[in-house]
Amino acid sequence: MAKTQVTIVGAGPSGLMLCQMLHRHGVDAVVLERQTREHVGARIRAGLLEQGTVELLNEAGVGERMMREGLVHDGFELAFDGRRHRIDLAGLAGKHVLVYGQTEIQRDLADAAGARVIWEAKDVAILDSEGSSARISYVKDGVKHEIRSEFIVGCDGYHGASRASVPKDRIVHHERIYPFGWLGILADVPPVSEELVYANHRRGFALCSMRSRTRSRYYVQCPLDDKLESWSDERFWDELRSRLPPELAGKVVVGPSIEKSIAPLRSFVAEPMRFGRLFLVGDAAHIVPPTGAKGLNLAAADVRVLYQGLVEYFRSRSTTLLDEYSMRALARVWKATRFSWWFTTLMHKFSDEAFAYRLQLAELGYLAESRAASQAVAENYVGLPFDC
Ligand code: FAD
Ligand code: DHB
Repeated sequence: MAKTQVTIVGAGPSGLMLCQMLHRHGVDAVVLERQTREHVGARIRAGLLEQGTVELLNEAGVGERMMREGLVHDGFELAFDGRRHRIDLAGLAGKHVLVYGQTEIQRDLADAAGARVIWEAKDVAILDSEGSSARISYVKDGVKHEIRSEFIVGCDGYHGASRASVPKDRIVHHERIYPFGWLGILADVPPVSEELVYANHRRGFALCSMRSRTRSRYYVQCPLDDKLESWSDERFWDELRSRLPPELAGKVVVGPSIEKSIAPLRSFVAEPMRFGRLFLVGDAAHIVPPTGAKGLNLAAADVRVLYQGLVEYFRSRSTTLLDEYSMRALARVWKATRFSWWFTTLMHKFSDEAFAYRLQLAELGYLAESRAASQAVAENYVGLPFDC
């Protein structure tokens, strides 16, 4: 049976970041990933990094390309009722965010991880996470293998095997499903504006984002049961423009989509995030709706807390930080869950009810007039402190 210090399940951003941080601190780890490297690398997901995430990737030694190619954003815009209000992140929160796609982070991390990742590891099963050591099995090229380690870390996303292995009476799930999805497209056209624009409109929410100065990422709120086939590029561009203020709509450069997908929106938190020798990290433990781009950043914040605990344990056998992991991670998770829920509720169309729409406009108007309210948004958007 193979042995290592930490077995990580899942080679998404959280699994690879953790592996890299442990490696930098002399802790041995193996990552088991069900998919091929190409499959994981091709998933178009997050695009916006908080400064804390940028710092972690730099500490992990994988930040060189990010610092060169990432776009620094000092603010973003809210568009509503024919008005536009800029949230000055630098002025209100003293920080900025970085536009750098998850696909790029994934590539930088996978390059650094090299042979520490076992790609296409099928049928991962946690055999023991409570005994004097942890045991896990997987199948690679038709052959079954077993690994013994001190800890197992589940970085295997919402549908992974790790959280599913926890007995139902030891875990609490909190969940809210939103009655709409996001239709997103990627296109090699220049972004409509230098900064991101979040639009509240009677027809539904729209977001103008980007991956670079020549590649745009746009989203429109859509019904949950909509099919991709019913969204031609032409229909998408028309819908996007109809939800933006006229002066912006007139500037949208259209072009063929290179990716198009529909994502459902969900808030989900599993508590606690530790079960004996098993820890849950990132999407395996919590999901936020994308509004505000907290998903990937929260995963990075979990990694920061956990890697420090693991390094301390392997240095001194002290379990102090590991024992605090769940409590410290969840404190921040719930605050980001609140912000993502709030921002989603403020910007999306939930019904045809005029009262709900007028309340949204009143709150957006208040935000535009109140420095204090704008500052609260800015502080959350750039990322709360790690020990909040
Ligand atoms: P994941 O990225 O889900 O990685 C989990 C990995 O585990 C995967 O590679 C998976 O193949 C592997 N795995 C799963 N089960 C097993 C198993 N049994 N055995 C072995 N391996 C397994 N966030 C934002 O901030 N902004 C966005 O715009 C945004 N858009 C998103 C769009 C979609 C469609 C989705 C699903 C998420 C989006 N997110 C977004 C969220 C963000 O991408 C996630 O928060 C982030 O990927 C979390 O990283 P993770 O490593 O925890 O999980
Ligand atoms: C992106 C997604 C978000 O949810 C967000 O708030 C900002 C940017 C993006 O995919 O670019």
